[in-house]
Amino acid sequence: MPERMMENTGQSMVPRHVAIIMDGNGRWAKARGLPRGFGHRKGVEAVRDAVKSAREFGIEYLTLYAFSSENWRRPEDEVNDLMGLLKIFIKRDLAELHSADVRIRIIGARDGLRSDILQLLLEAEETTKNNGGLVLVIAFNYGSRDEIARAVAKIAGDVAGGRLAASEILPETISHYLDTADIPDPDLLIRTSGEVRLSNFLMWQAAYSELVFIPEFWPDFDRKIFLQAIETYKGRERRFGAVGKADVGSKIAESI
Ligand code: IPE
Ligand code: IPE
Ligand code: MG
Repeated sequence: MPERMMENTGQSMVPRHVAIIMDGNGRWAKARGLPRGFGHRKGVEAVRDAVKSAREFGIEYLTLYAFSSENWRRPEDEVNDLMGLLKIFIKRDLAELHSADVRIRIIGARDGLRSDILQLLLEAEETTKNNGGLVLVIAFNYGSRDEIARAVAKIAGDVAGGRLAASEILPETISHYLDTADIPDPDLLIRTSGEVRLSNFLMWQAAYSELVFIPEFWPDFDRKIFLQAIETYKGRERRFGAVGKADVGSKIAESI
């Protein structure tokens, strides 16, 4: 088995890359008789908390699903609210994240974003590009199918231009053309709010991620809940298609 596939099979390890589907802001607000926007605002505080905890736990990559390519289907007011919150988050928190050595990366389609939003995202990436601490990956205007389609279009362009031979296309080639090119696959993928689906998030990259679905709404996500999810992860055995650790070395003769 290739060396990299053995990574993280020792489950005493903290996951190197945690990806989170931050879900349930609307229901959190509704449960309190508040408009959905209040849930989104409170959700930003949970983001700050999650970043802090990830740094404390020694996680190397934290990917947060902030806005999906399908979230444009929401009412215009809510879309504007979410765009505004991203702006506020970056404007208010960029300096602090930068001084904490956090490197910001944005994944998702850049076409179709308002120019002020795009400028801010580019500024956040540019300002923090040499930082060596936590890599905070923000999935914004992100959808796996869109990401894969964009990657395939680039591959097709390179094949047509003679820069790549069709026979050279391996799974690693495809990974290389995705927005996450130089980011390792997530070890642990958490979704809050009790929904049990991926909603078009990291479908290629999560092929062997451990999935943890928790009932709490995103605005209630805190250090303790984060730690519990990591404990659940540590209790899992990752096999990557091979046999379990306890079975390695067991003699065929013993089973016949
Ligand atoms: C997650 O909370 C935030 C985004 C998708 C941007 P939701 O807004 O989806 O909240 P629910 O799922 O409706 O409760
Ligand atoms: C997924 O949540 C997207 C984000 C968290 C940004 P949704 O609330 O949009 O997903 P569905 O619609 O319930 O599948
Ligand atoms: Mg939702």
